[in-house]
Amino acid sequence: MDLEFLRGAAEKAARRAGEFLRENLFRPHRISHKGKIDLVTEADPEAERLILGVLKEETPEIPVLGEELSKIEPQGLYWLVDPLDGTTNYAHGFPWFGVSVALMKDDLPLVGVIYHPMQEEMFSASRGKGAFLNGTPIRVSETEDPEKALLATGFPYNIHEKPEKVTSAFKEFLTKVQGIRRAGAASLDLAYVACGRFDGFWEALLKPWDTAAGILLVEEAGGQVTNYLGEAYTPFQKHLVATNGKIHEFMLKITFKYLPEE
Ligand code: IPD
Ligand code: CA
Ligand code: CA
Ligand code: CA
Repeated sequence: MDLEFLRGAAEKAARRAGEFLRENLFRPHRISHKGKIDLVTEADPEAERLILGVLKEETPEIPVLGEELSKIEPQGLYWLVDPLDGTTNYAHGFPWFGVSVALMKDDLPLVGVIYHPMQEEMFSASRGKGAFLNGTPIRVSETEDPEKALLATGFPYNIHEKPEKVTSAFKEFLTKVQGIRRAGAASLDLAYVACGRFDGFWEALLKPWDTAAGILLVEEAGGQVTNYLGEAYTPFQKHLVATNGKIHEFMLKITFKYLPEE
């Protein structure tokens, strides 16, 4: 299997969707609801259609699992796609969203690509070959002192049902670190840990397409990825901590107290 060819195919697909999303960001959107605050715009499935078109052309033998359209069992070799990560931002014209494409072998990411269209930044990694931003190698940060750390997080779409665990964890981190950002696109949060702009990220109840590409980026950039208990993380788990490695223990001492309800 030529992972470099597959990484190129993933980049091409992510760029195609990203360009479409960038061009249409400030046009009016048709918005429908998957849940109370869980939105979907006309651009979400359209971006997935564009990705499918490229992947079917480049790798016709590899099936695709996507958030909006392409439903298959996650087994063997398959593409795992979030065509628009940051839909709430997109719906509001807040220019912060990503396109995430991962090549999976069962629950293991082999290739991970995250494109940030507004910044024209292409984050990409393949297993064992390192992580790159627009072709230049990236590394996680060196920050050891939590008081100097900039963290990222996000909140699940069912937060209104039981907000306490999420807000308690947030409050506890807030008093111990330099700052926390909730920018609204988990894939970009992970890409930013990989390139050292964030020192750590935690979030619960993410979906496999939110995290698959990002966790490979973080690992290939020298970082650490586990669940809230410090156990090995796969994109099918319910809680994630991703850091530069140096503040991982610090974060786990807080996250283990706030496991989400199953
Ligand atoms: C969402 C974003 C957000 C995170 C949510 C995700 P979507 O993905 O990544 O940052 O907090 O949990 O579901 O729905 O915009 O693709
Ligand atoms: Ca997402
Ligand atoms: Ca999405
Ligand atoms: Ca969504």
